[in-house]
Amino acid sequence: MEVIISADADEIGRIGADAIAALLARKPDAVLGLATGSSPLAIYNELARRCQSGSVTFSRAFGFTLDEYVGLPAGHPQRYRNVIDEVFVSQVDFAAGAVHGPDGLAADIPAACAHYEEAIRDAGGIDLQILGIGTDGHIAFNEPGSSLGSRTRIKTLTRQTRSDNARFFGGDIDAVPTHCLTQGLATIMEARHLILVATGRGKAEAVHQLVEGPISALWPATVLQLHPHVTVLLDEAAARRLQLVDYYRETYGSKPEWQGI
Ligand code: F6R
Repeated sequence: MEVIISADADEIGRIGADAIAALLARKPDAVLGLATGSSPLAIYNELARRCQSGSVTFSRAFGFTLDEYVGLPAGHPQRYRNVIDEVFVSQVDFAAGAVHGPDGLAADIPAACAHYEEAIRDAGGIDLQILGIGTDGHIAFNEPGSSLGSRTRIKTLTRQTRSDNARFFGGDIDAVPTHCLTQGLATIMEARHLILVATGRGKAEAVHQLVEGPISALWPATVLQLHPHVTVLLDEAAARRLQLVDYYRETYGSKPEWQGI
């Protein structure tokens, strides 16, 4: 697991965007895993800028989102499918129909989840997955207690997550759906490269557990310790509880630039 700490949100965006641009340069039809939420915005904004200036294209790429609220109407602004369209997909040049998400309005939820797994498999699997992390250590919406071997399924959101996300629903926790569909931890672990972004003090404990804690369903993100290619992009606040922070800084600081992440 590579840990990169930066004081500068723009730099986090640049490092993530560089990795995606490099992937698209060597594999234009790459399959990207897209997280929603605040954490990836710096990367998406930087990619949108580069796409608009012509230095990167998504015209042959594919995207799969991580998760979706259950039951939000199709036009709801906080439906994850609408959020990702607004903040990223509409800002770059994906072909029509190239970005997929789990169907939170499906009548048959188990079938919709199985179909989503199949769609990811049929696309050849995810080359690069962008992730955020919840203050309770969730990745996608795999809340504490999630099986480390889980696949796409319905989950109940914790009160903590609903309270964290109430900011997107006018501060009203009761407006935040109680359930979601989410890629499972085993689904996420099949992506070839994972880039997790965390910023702010509120993420510091979850980040400490993710990088340095024992692997446990109590902190679902800790399963990433078993993945051979994970990059963790942090600001200073999110890194403040890391025990080996000096070592991570030294390691990244002495890395030759050509190596990428
Ligand atoms: C969103 C997702 C979640 C978020 C996490 C952090 O698709 O999968 O795991 O990444 O809740 O959210 P932010 O980035 O808003 O702090």
